[in-house]
Amino acid sequence: MRIGILGTGNMADALGTQWIRAGHQVMFGGRSPDRARALGRRAGGAAGTLADAVAFGPVILLALPFDAVAGVLTELGARDGTLGDRLLIDCTNAVGPGFVLTTAGGPGAARTIADVTGARVVKAFNHLPDAVWRLTPPAFADGPVAVPLCGDDEEALTTVATLVRDLGCVPLTAGGLDRAAYLEATTAFLIGLWHSGHDPRTLLPPVEAATA
Ligand SMILES: NC(=O)c1ccc[n+]([C@@H]2O[C@H](COP(=O)([O-])OP(=O)(O)OC[C@H]3O[C@@H](n4cnc5c(N)ncnc54)[C@H](OP(=O)(O)O)[C@@H]3O)[C@@H](O)[C@H]2O)c1
Repeated sequence: MRIGILGTGNMADALGTQWIRAGHQVMFGGRSPDRARALGRRAGGAAGTLADAVAFGPVILLALPFDAVAGVLTELGARDGTLGDRLLIDCTNAVGPGFVLTTAGGPGAARTIADVTGARVVKAFNHLPDAVWRLTPPAFADGPVAVPLCGDDEEALTTVATLVRDLGCVPLTAGGLDRAAYLEATTAFLIGLWHSGHDPRTLLPPVEAATA
């Protein structure tokens, strides 16, 4: 699969490196050509501008701060519809100081990106830190990490599920894009707990007990 990655930071590095290992063709696109080239060399992928990465993929990982995404995508052609045939994977967390969800009360990050671009968007990979995505494989005592996916397009969900399995993780289809805002809020809540030293796993009973 050809995957263009927007951004050259932690998430670009973590996920891009894994997908290259799994045999995918990856281009890292950054606003700094030097940083893109350095990451491309280290990970074994191609490097270019943000526009190059959009042109490269049919699949695009948005590894940018949420606040930057709409501006970047608008400049790269969202308005004239040139992003319309791309599958955008949104891993952003619109979380500000104090672990506040900056999109609270609005449509949420993934929905906003879909509205701005008109592209198919799948929310994925936002719920865990890059250190976990770098594990080979990302797995703990209970087994491989489950990755919730939210999106409206079945083919796009199938494609992202493949990319999840290629990391050694398990895809968990978690509803349409209207559910992405819940995943985003849940992640903000989890980040707050983790940073307070709490283990959210202790909150959760087995499914039989929760649905009895
Ligand atoms: N790190 C995590 O553990 C983690 C986990 C889950 C989700 N996320 C989400 O994933 C996204 C990326 O996080 P990250 O940790 O990879 O961030 P990061 O390491 O800070 O990298 C951010 C990247 O975005 C680029 N960028 C920032 N503002 C930009 C702009 N206005 N125009 C173009 N490029 C811009 C940066 O370019 P420069 O290098 O030129 O500044 C850099 O390449 C965020 O939305 C974050 O919430 C992060």
